[in-house]
Amino acid sequence: MQTIFLNSAELDQAVAYLKSGQVVAFPTETVYGLGADATNEEAVKKIFEAKGRPNDNPLIIHISNIDQLERYVQYIPDVAKTVMEHFWPGPCTLILKKKGPIAPSVTGGLDTIGVRMPDHPVALELIEKAGIPLAAPSANSSGKPSPTTALHVKKDLDGKIQAIVDGGATGVGLESTVLDLTDPERPTILRPGGVTSEELEEVLGKVWMDAHLSDASVGPKSPGMKYKHYSPEKPVWILPASLEQTREVMDQLEKSGEKIGFLVSDEWFEQLSNKNRKGHTLGEKKNPQQAAARLFSSLRALDEEEVSLILVEPYSKVGIGTAYMNRLEKAASRIVGIS
Ligand code: TXA
Ligand code: MG
Repeated sequence: MQTIFLNSAELDQAVAYLKSGQVVAFPTETVYGLGADATNEEAVKKIFEAKGRPNDNPLIIHISNIDQLERYVQYIPDVAKTVMEHFWPGPCTLILKKKGPIAPSVTGGLDTIGVRMPDHPVALELIEKAGIPLAAPSANSSGKPSPTTALHVKKDLDGKIQAIVDGGATGVGLESTVLDLTDPERPTILRPGGVTSEELEEVLGKVWMDAHLSDASVGPKSPGMKYKHYSPEKPVWILPASLEQTREVMDQLEKSGEKIGFLVSDEWFEQLSNKNRKGHTLGEKKNPQQAAARLFSSLRALDEEEVSLILVEPYSKVGIGTAYMNRLEKAASRIVGIS
């Protein structure tokens, strides 16, 4: 199959592919998604095949207006209405009890379904024009960092999918927050993401974190969270929080023959650069949004450089920093120098 690029003025073509059961990648505000008609089992299976995704890992369905939701969930608790009012369209996926004509593979045998309304004009127009909910995981090969540009999608999935709608680089750069509302009394974050727990607590009061997020011995409730994820080919290590220790770590690694690629804040960048190292910056330390937006694309860029190891600066687990560290910890095989 030859994968073709479409632009945002060619959505009718993308719609035609989707309606005939093909798979099409499209931009959202978080990362690129790999879309198929969520009511067509054959089409949905093609998503799993193209990505090499384990079939017990359920997909999120994407809708373009709230009225569509009633068709696919048993009931909409008040807490879901509040979240939708404040955060939709936007990077927050709600887990609710499912019903209706959704292809069985979408939910991987669960009686719940993840739904979100993406905050991206191209995604919304595409869903609206297609008139069907789109099942869409991130449009990367399973295990790789999620794609934030159309070229990232091509790199992973060229020849395996019908088309890629190019809508430029995505904004948030990390995936949506997955919020379980199946017990409306206990809204629980299964995956931290673009909407922070602090933002959710401002409108909902207390919000719980799924136990696996803080305790590695507990299995995750969100099936996808148990897999190794977000990793480039090269090993990724998390740096110590201190610049002094980081300098020592880098010197030692170079003495033992490693070729270092590093990804750090502007403040560290100047201090750590030298001609033997390849560096990328995450922006100013006080701007974790920017670090989140750059994480996946920088991991991909460093993976293409001549380096043997990728070293990344940790950020505080506050606000979007929680999602940044969640993805980084999953990508990394080692945390260095924490004493
Ligand atoms: O921002 C995003 O969410 C992107 C864009 C494309 O919308 N999508 C995305 O999809 O990240 P994916 O498939 O890469 O991640 C979906 C996550 C997985 O961790 C999956 O296990 C979880 O959502 N999930 C989906 N349905 C679920 C359900 N019914 N119960 C629990 N977790 C669910
Ligand atoms: Mg994914």
